[in-house]
Amino acid sequence: MVGKICGTGSYVPPRVMDNDDLAKLVDTNDAWIRERTGIGKRHIAEEETTSFMAAQAALRAVEQSGIDPEEIELILLATSSSEMIFPCAACEVQKAIGAVNAAGYDLNAACTGFVLAFNTAQAYISAGIYKTVLVIGADSMSSLVDWTDRGTCILFGDGAGAALLRAEEGAPVYMAAHSDGEKGPALTGMSRHRKGWAEESDNESYIHMDGQAVFKFAVRKVPEIIEEVLEKAGTDLKEIDCFVLHQANCRIIEAVAKRLETDIGKFPMNLEEYANTSAATVPLLLDEMNRKGRLQRGQKLMLAGFGAGLTWAACLFEW
Ligand code: UT7
Repeated sequence: MVGKICGTGSYVPPRVMDNDDLAKLVDTNDAWIRERTGIGKRHIAEEETTSFMAAQAALRAVEQSGIDPEEIELILLATSSSEMIFPCAACEVQKAIGAVNAAGYDLNAACTGFVLAFNTAQAYISAGIYKTVLVIGADSMSSLVDWTDRGTCILFGDGAGAALLRAEEGAPVYMAAHSDGEKGPALTGMSRHRKGWAEESDNESYIHMDGQAVFKFAVRKVPEIIEEVLEKAGTDLKEIDCFVLHQANCRIIEAVAKRLETDIGKFPMNLEEYANTSAATVPLLLDEMNRKGRLQRGQKLMLAGFGAGLTWAACLFEW
């Protein structure tokens, strides 16, 4: 059995902050941000919490699937910015959507989180443990960034995406995942002194990043892990219809496509609108493509995530 996606959903807060708005906070400008990252704007949470956004995305996925929430057996929620350490955000989602029969827990692997949660769900389903699993990626990055640091605050946004998986007979799912804790200092985020985007930074907490180190890591490791999954599947790059990569920087995605000698048209992007929403980027993009009718049953999709840890993961499955 494999987990087939039978519904997707997403949510972003209505408040939009574009690059010109950011230029009022830090020494930056629209041209630099667009050229270096492909980002035009980001949605920023005000009242909305991570678990609220996750629940909205989940409700939309459940609604699209037509499945009764009571049939959901497990909720896996990837996040590194939940408003509470406990109860976990997955339990908040369970309550909000009426998934009274589901178990639920959060996974934290930063931007790689959704792909790892998706792989975990597939493992449960192929082992026959669960049949109906809700996988969510949700993050409020605006609560973690230092709004005085132009090297990081321009990159991130808030949002959530969800996919509801149902056990069916089908083509096997292939996956891989890696971590390199030695390189952890390249990208760190503290949760001790969380503040809103408008409040002053104490410069000790928040996200710290060696941008170039993360950039180089992603450009090297993402093609490697895609090749690793293809080898496991005994298939060829040309067989893949669509590569849904973590949306961190359009130049990273372009460099990955170039290294793989693959048409950039197979690498959809929505960074312009949402920026990097961490664990939410992959399901947000999946939902956008699904609702636009750009995904057909039987298409081969490769998901790939990378981020703090450092961590990276990929998954090949048939839509
Ligand atoms: O989910 C994973 C999350 N992290 C990532 O994906 C990060 C990956 N890395 C990146 O995306 C890029 O490294 C950045 C977008 C963060 C930075 O781009 P870059 O091309 O590596 O720029 P840089 O850090 O080498 O900086 C180039 C110049 C510097 O000025 P000087 O020293 O050349 O005078 C920076 O001070 O650009 C300056 N700079 C800026 N200028 C205007 C850095 N940030 C900004 C800014 N606006 N926001």
